Amino acid sequence: MKRRKFIKSASLGGVAVGLSATVLACNDSEIKEIAKKETTKEPIWPIVIATWNVHRATQETWDAMQAGHQVLDAVEAGCKIEEADPKGQSVGKGGLPDRDGNVTLDACIMDHLGNCGSVVYLQNITHAITVAKSVMQDTPHVMLAGKGAEDYALSIGLKRENLLTEASKKAWEKWKEEAEYKPIINIENHDTIGLLAIDKDGTISGGCTTSGLAYKMGGRVGDSPIIGSGLFVDNEVGAAVATGMGEEVVKTVGSFLIVELMRQGMSPQQACEEAISRIVNKPGKNYEDFQVGYVAVNKKGETGYYSIHDGFWATIYADGENKNYASSFFNKK
Ligand code: GLY
Repeated sequence: MKRRKFIKSASLGGVAVGLSATVLACNDSEIKEIAKKETTKEPIWPIVIATWNVHRATQETWDAMQAGHQVLDAVEAGCKIEEADPKGQSVGKGGLPDRDGNVTLDACIMDHLGNCGSVVYLQNITHAITVAKSVMQDTPHVMLAGKGAEDYALSIGLKRENLLTEASKKAWEKWKEEAEYKPIINIENHDTIGLLAIDKDGTISGGCTTSGLAYKMGGRVGDSPIIGSGLFVDNEVGAAVATGMGEEVVKTVGSFLIVELMRQGMSPQQACEEAISRIVNKPGKNYEDFQVGYVAVNKKGETGYYSIHDGFWATIYADGENKNYASSFFNKK
Protein backbone atom coordinates (compact mmCIF):
# COMPACT_ATOMS: atom_id res chain seq x y z
CA MET A 1 0.00 0.00 0.00
CA LYS A 2 1.26 3.45 -0.83
CA ARG A 3 2.27 5.50 2.19
CA ARG A 4 -0.14 8.34 1.39
CA LYS A 5 -3.05 5.96 0.82
CA PHE A 6 -2.40 4.15 4.09
CA ILE A 7 -2.36 7.37 6.06
CA LYS A 8 -5.71 8.28 4.53
CA SER A 9 -7.34 4.92 5.20
CA ALA A 10 -5.95 4.83 8.72
CA SER A 11 -7.61 8.09 9.65
CA LEU A 12 -10.86 7.19 7.86
CA GLY A 13 -11.01 3.96 9.79
CA GLY A 14 -11.11 5.94 12.99
CA VAL A 15 -7.86 4.58 14.34
CA ALA A 16 -5.92 6.69 16.73
CA VAL A 17 -5.50 10.32 15.86
CA GLY A 18 -1.77 10.92 15.78
CA LEU A 19 -1.02 7.67 13.99
CA SER A 20 -0.03 9.58 10.87
CA ALA A 21 2.99 11.04 12.61
CA THR A 22 4.07 7.55 13.62
CA VAL A 23 3.50 6.25 10.13
CA LEU A 24 5.53 9.02 8.56
CA ALA A 25 8.47 7.99 10.70
CA CYS A 26 8.23 4.32 9.57
CA ASN A 27 9.76 2.44 6.68
CA ASP A 28 7.55 0.48 4.25
CA SER A 29 7.68 -2.86 6.07
CA GLU A 30 6.86 -1.17 9.37
CA ILE A 31 3.91 0.55 7.70
CA LYS A 32 2.69 -2.85 6.44
CA GLU A 33 2.96 -4.18 9.98
CA ILE A 34 0.89 -1.27 11.36
CA ALA A 35 -1.67 -1.72 8.58
CA LYS A 36 -1.96 -5.43 9.39
CA LYS A 37 -2.45 -4.70 13.07
CA GLU A 38 -5.19 -2.22 12.29
CA THR A 39 -7.07 -4.56 9.94
CA THR A 40 -6.85 -7.55 12.29
CA LYS A 41 -7.51 -5.47 15.39
CA GLU A 42 -7.31 -7.30 18.68
CA PRO A 43 -10.49 -7.02 20.70
CA ILE A 44 -10.36 -4.35 23.39
CA TRP A 45 -10.54 -6.65 26.42
CA PRO A 46 -10.86 -6.20 29.31
CA ILE A 47 -13.15 -3.20 29.22
CA VAL A 48 -15.73 -1.59 31.50
CA ILE A 49 -18.35 0.95 30.42
CA ALA A 50 -20.90 2.61 32.68
CA THR A 51 -23.58 5.26 32.56
CA TRP A 52 -22.67 8.67 34.03
CA ASN A 53 -19.52 9.82 35.83
CA VAL A 54 -18.85 6.83 38.01
CA HIS A 55 -15.11 6.33 37.82
CA ARG A 56 -14.99 4.73 41.28
CA ALA A 57 -17.44 2.07 40.12
CA THR A 58 -15.56 1.36 36.88
CA GLN A 59 -12.28 1.30 38.83
CA GLU A 60 -13.71 -1.25 41.27
CA THR A 61 -14.95 -3.43 38.41
CA TRP A 62 -11.63 -3.23 36.60
CA ASP A 63 -9.66 -3.99 39.77
CA ALA A 64 -11.87 -6.97 40.57
CA MET A 65 -11.28 -8.41 37.09
CA GLN A 66 -7.53 -7.77 37.40
CA ALA A 67 -7.60 -9.61 40.74
CA GLY A 68 -9.06 -12.64 38.95
CA HIS A 69 -12.68 -12.35 40.03
CA GLN A 70 -15.37 -13.44 37.61
CA VAL A 71 -16.74 -10.65 35.47
CA LEU A 72 -20.23 -11.03 36.98
CA ASP A 73 -18.81 -10.51 40.47
CA ALA A 74 -16.77 -7.57 39.21
CA VAL A 75 -19.93 -5.95 37.83
CA GLU A 76 -21.68 -6.48 41.17
CA ALA A 77 -18.72 -4.92 42.99
CA GLY A 78 -18.84 -1.84 40.75
CA CYS A 79 -22.59 -1.37 41.23
CA LYS A 80 -22.20 -1.72 45.00
CA ILE A 81 -19.89 1.30 45.10
CA GLU A 82 -22.70 3.52 43.85
CA GLU A 83 -25.36 1.84 45.98
CA ALA A 84 -23.35 2.45 49.15
CA ASP A 85 -22.70 6.13 48.43
CA PRO A 86 -25.28 8.14 50.42
CA LYS A 87 -24.49 11.24 48.35
CA GLY A 88 -25.84 9.63 45.17
CA GLN A 89 -29.56 10.41 45.20
CA SER A 90 -30.60 8.04 42.44
CA VAL A 91 -29.18 4.71 43.56
CA GLY A 92 -29.23 2.63 46.76
CA LYS A 93 -28.73 4.39 50.09
CA GLY A 94 -29.63 8.06 49.81
CA GLY A 95 -31.91 7.54 46.80
CA LEU A 96 -34.75 10.04 46.49
CA PRO A 97 -37.99 8.48 47.75
CA ASP A 98 -41.37 8.02 46.13
CA ARG A 99 -44.11 10.58 46.81
CA ASP A 100 -44.91 8.86 50.12
CA GLY A 101 -41.32 9.06 51.37
CA ASN A 102 -40.37 5.42 50.71
CA VAL A 103 -37.04 4.65 49.03
CA THR A 104 -37.69 1.72 46.69
CA LEU A 105 -34.98 0.10 44.61
CA ASP A 106 -34.90 -1.79 41.30
CA ALA A 107 -31.88 -3.71 39.97
CA CYS A 108 -30.92 -6.47 37.61
CA ILE A 109 -27.89 -8.44 36.54
CA MET A 110 -27.14 -10.71 33.56
CA ASP A 111 -24.29 -13.04 32.69
CA HIS A 112 -22.65 -14.43 29.55
CA LEU A 113 -24.89 -17.52 29.55
CA GLY A 114 -28.07 -15.50 29.41
CA ASN A 115 -28.83 -16.06 33.09
CA CYS A 116 -30.44 -13.10 34.79
CA GLY A 117 -31.91 -11.97 38.07
CA SER A 118 -33.72 -8.89 39.25
CA VAL A 119 -35.44 -7.23 42.18
CA VAL A 120 -38.25 -4.71 42.02
CA TYR A 121 -39.66 -2.39 44.65
CA LEU A 122 -37.07 -3.50 47.19
CA GLN A 123 -37.03 -1.51 50.44
CA ASN A 124 -34.60 -1.20 53.38
CA ILE A 125 -31.72 -3.04 51.69
CA THR A 126 -28.79 -1.07 50.24
CA HIS A 127 -27.36 -3.63 47.84
CA ALA A 128 -30.18 -4.40 45.45
CA ILE A 129 -27.64 -5.70 42.92
CA THR A 130 -26.48 -8.38 45.37
CA VAL A 131 -30.04 -9.53 45.89
CA ALA A 132 -30.57 -9.62 42.10
CA LYS A 133 -27.43 -11.72 41.68
CA SER A 134 -28.54 -14.14 44.34
CA VAL A 135 -32.02 -14.41 42.80
CA MET A 136 -30.26 -15.41 39.59
CA GLN A 137 -27.81 -17.83 41.13
CA ASP A 138 -29.57 -19.29 44.12
CA THR A 139 -33.29 -19.43 43.29
CA PRO A 140 -35.30 -20.98 40.48
CA HIS A 141 -36.66 -17.51 39.65
CA VAL A 142 -35.65 -14.45 37.67
CA MET A 143 -37.44 -11.70 39.60
CA LEU A 144 -38.48 -11.06 43.19
CA ALA A 145 -40.59 -8.07 44.23
CA GLY A 146 -41.40 -6.01 47.29
CA LYS A 147 -41.73 -7.74 50.65
CA GLY A 148 -40.70 -11.08 49.17
CA ALA A 149 -37.50 -9.54 47.81
CA GLU A 150 -36.78 -7.89 51.17
CA ASP A 151 -37.41 -11.12 53.10
CA TYR A 152 -35.16 -12.95 50.66
CA ALA A 153 -32.42 -10.33 51.12
CA LEU A 154 -32.58 -10.79 54.89
CA SER A 155 -32.46 -14.57 54.46
CA ILE A 156 -29.15 -14.33 52.58
CA GLY A 157 -27.63 -12.22 55.35
CA LEU A 158 -28.14 -8.64 54.15
CA LYS A 159 -29.05 -6.12 56.84
CA ARG A 160 -32.10 -3.88 57.08
CA GLU A 161 -31.16 -0.21 56.83
CA ASN A 162 -32.96 3.09 56.60
CA LEU A 163 -32.14 4.25 53.06
CA LEU A 164 -33.70 7.70 53.44
CA THR A 165 -30.84 10.06 54.29
CA GLU A 166 -31.42 13.49 55.84
CA ALA A 167 -30.54 15.14 52.52
CA SER A 168 -33.06 13.06 50.57
CA LYS A 169 -35.71 13.53 53.25
CA LYS A 170 -35.19 17.29 53.07
CA ALA A 171 -35.46 17.26 49.27
CA TRP A 172 -38.68 15.22 49.50
CA GLU A 173 -40.16 17.60 52.09
CA LYS A 174 -39.39 20.52 49.82
CA TRP A 175 -40.97 18.70 46.89
CA LYS A 176 -44.12 18.12 48.97
CA GLU A 177 -44.67 21.88 49.26
CA GLU A 178 -45.87 21.83 45.64
CA ALA A 179 -45.99 18.09 45.04
CA GLU A 180 -45.73 18.59 41.31
CA TYR A 181 -44.74 15.41 39.58
CA LYS A 182 -42.16 16.23 36.94
CA PRO A 183 -39.32 13.96 35.85
CA ILE A 184 -36.00 15.59 36.57
CA ILE A 185 -33.51 15.50 33.72
CA ASN A 186 -29.94 14.56 34.67
CA ILE A 187 -30.27 14.50 38.44
CA GLU A 188 -26.93 15.91 39.65
CA ASN A 189 -25.22 14.30 36.68
CA HIS A 190 -26.17 10.88 37.90
CA ASP A 191 -29.11 8.58 37.53
CA THR A 192 -29.54 4.84 37.13
CA ILE A 193 -26.14 3.21 37.17
CA GLY A 194 -25.70 0.69 34.40
CA LEU A 195 -22.40 -1.10 34.10
CA LEU A 196 -21.15 -3.50 31.40
CA ALA A 197 -17.85 -5.38 31.45
CA ILE A 198 -15.87 -7.78 29.28
CA ASP A 199 -13.05 -9.71 30.90
CA LYS A 200 -9.72 -10.63 29.32
CA ASP A 201 -11.27 -13.79 27.82
CA GLY A 202 -14.20 -11.99 26.20
CA THR A 203 -16.82 -12.95 28.77
CA ILE A 204 -19.52 -10.30 29.09
CA SER A 205 -21.74 -9.42 32.05
CA GLY A 206 -23.82 -6.40 33.00
CA GLY A 207 -25.82 -4.92 35.83
CA CYS A 208 -27.94 -1.92 36.65
CA THR A 209 -29.29 -0.44 39.86
CA THR A 210 -31.53 2.49 40.72
CA SER A 211 -33.92 4.09 43.17
CA GLY A 212 -36.04 5.01 40.16
CA LEU A 213 -37.73 8.28 39.42
CA ALA A 214 -37.76 10.73 42.29
CA TYR A 215 -41.21 11.19 43.88
CA LYS A 216 -42.77 8.48 41.70
CA MET A 217 -46.14 6.97 42.58
CA GLY A 218 -45.97 4.29 45.26
CA GLY A 219 -45.48 0.93 43.57
CA ARG A 220 -44.01 2.35 40.37
CA VAL A 221 -41.38 0.17 38.70
CA GLY A 222 -39.12 1.39 35.90
CA ASP A 223 -37.02 -0.24 33.23
CA SER A 224 -34.03 -1.16 35.36
CA PRO A 225 -35.22 -4.55 36.65
CA ILE A 226 -36.84 -5.51 33.33
CA ILE A 227 -34.43 -7.68 31.38
CA GLY A 228 -34.27 -6.45 27.80
CA SER A 229 -35.41 -2.94 28.72
CA GLY A 230 -32.93 -1.72 31.34
CA LEU A 231 -30.21 -4.23 30.44
CA PHE A 232 -29.40 -6.96 27.97
CA VAL A 233 -26.32 -9.12 27.49
CA ASP A 234 -25.62 -11.55 24.67
CA ASN A 235 -22.14 -12.98 24.86
CA GLU A 236 -21.97 -13.51 21.09
CA VAL A 237 -22.87 -9.91 20.28
CA GLY A 238 -22.42 -7.45 23.17
CA ALA A 239 -24.46 -5.68 25.80
CA ALA A 240 -26.42 -2.51 26.44
CA VAL A 241 -27.84 -0.69 29.44
CA ALA A 242 -30.19 2.25 29.92
CA THR A 243 -30.60 5.24 32.20
CA GLY A 244 -33.27 7.90 32.41
CA MET A 245 -37.02 7.73 31.99
CA GLY A 246 -37.76 4.06 32.39
CA GLU A 247 -41.26 4.19 30.94
CA GLU A 248 -39.86 5.21 27.55
CA VAL A 249 -37.17 2.53 27.67
CA VAL A 250 -39.73 -0.17 28.50
CA LYS A 251 -41.99 0.88 25.62
CA THR A 252 -39.16 0.39 23.14
CA VAL A 253 -37.39 -2.55 24.90
CA GLY A 254 -34.31 -0.41 24.48
CA SER A 255 -31.38 -2.56 25.60
CA PHE A 256 -32.53 -5.66 23.74
CA LEU A 257 -33.11 -3.50 20.69
CA ILE A 258 -29.53 -2.20 20.81
CA VAL A 259 -28.05 -5.68 21.11
CA GLU A 260 -30.18 -6.92 18.21
CA LEU A 261 -29.14 -3.94 16.07
CA MET A 262 -25.50 -4.73 16.83
CA ARG A 263 -26.17 -8.35 15.86
CA GLN A 264 -27.38 -7.06 12.50
CA GLY A 265 -24.13 -5.17 11.98
CA MET A 266 -24.57 -1.76 13.53
CA SER A 267 -21.76 -0.35 15.65
CA PRO A 268 -22.59 0.26 19.33
CA GLN A 269 -22.81 3.99 18.59
CA GLN A 270 -25.20 3.53 15.66
CA ALA A 271 -27.32 1.14 17.70
CA CYS A 272 -27.59 3.55 20.65
CA GLU A 273 -28.57 6.37 18.29
CA GLU A 274 -31.22 4.21 16.61
CA ALA A 275 -32.68 3.21 20.00
CA ILE A 276 -32.97 6.90 20.97
CA SER A 277 -34.56 7.68 17.60
CA ARG A 278 -37.27 5.06 18.29
CA ILE A 279 -38.21 7.09 21.39
CA VAL A 280 -38.03 10.61 20.02
CA ASN A 281 -39.78 9.79 16.74
CA LYS A 282 -42.87 8.35 18.37
CA PRO A 283 -45.94 10.35 17.39
CA GLY A 284 -46.94 12.82 20.08
CA LYS A 285 -43.89 12.22 22.22
CA ASN A 286 -42.72 15.23 24.11
CA TYR A 287 -39.14 14.26 24.61
CA GLU A 288 -38.38 17.79 25.91
CA ASP A 289 -39.57 16.61 29.31
CA PHE A 290 -37.44 13.57 29.87
CA GLN A 291 -33.97 12.17 29.42
CA VAL A 292 -32.94 8.70 28.25
CA GLY A 293 -29.34 7.60 27.73
CA TYR A 294 -27.80 4.34 26.60
CA VAL A 295 -24.34 2.85 26.71
CA ALA A 296 -23.35 -0.25 24.74
CA VAL A 297 -20.35 -2.42 24.01
CA ASN A 298 -19.94 -5.02 21.28
CA LYS A 299 -18.01 -8.26 21.40
CA LYS A 300 -14.90 -6.53 20.05
CA GLY A 301 -14.95 -4.11 22.95
CA GLU A 302 -16.04 -1.16 20.81
CA THR A 303 -18.31 1.20 22.72
CA GLY A 304 -21.17 3.61 22.06
CA TYR A 305 -23.23 6.06 24.13
CA TYR A 306 -26.01 8.47 23.23
CA SER A 307 -28.85 10.36 24.90
CA ILE A 308 -31.83 12.52 24.09
CA HIS A 309 -30.49 15.64 25.82
CA ASP A 310 -27.17 17.16 26.64
CA GLY A 311 -25.67 16.32 30.02
CA PHE A 312 -25.28 12.55 29.74
CA TRP A 313 -21.89 10.95 30.34
CA ALA A 314 -20.26 7.57 30.01
CA THR A 315 -17.29 6.28 31.95
CA ILE A 316 -15.00 3.83 30.20
CA TYR A 317 -12.10 1.90 31.65
CA ALA A 318 -10.02 0.47 28.81
CA ASP A 319 -6.34 0.07 28.05
CA GLY A 320 -5.57 0.84 31.69
CA GLU A 321 -7.29 4.24 31.55
CA ASN A 322 -10.43 5.25 33.42
CA LYS A 323 -12.10 8.21 31.71
CA ASN A 324 -15.38 10.13 31.52
CA TYR A 325 -16.80 11.00 28.12
CA ALA A 326 -19.51 13.58 27.40
CA SER A 327 -22.18 11.90 25.28
CA SER A 328 -23.44 13.28 22.01
CA PHE A 329 -27.21 13.78 22.03
CA PHE A 330 -30.31 14.14 19.86
CA ASN A 331 -31.93 17.38 21.00
CA LYS A 332 -29.78 20.17 19.60
CA LYS A 333 -32.84 22.53 20.03
N1 GLY B 1 -34.22 4.24 34.62
C1 GLY B 1 -34.66 4.19 35.94
C2 GLY B 1 -36.10 4.31 36.10
O1 GLY B 1 -36.80 4.84 35.27
O2 GLY B 1 -36.59 3.88 37.12
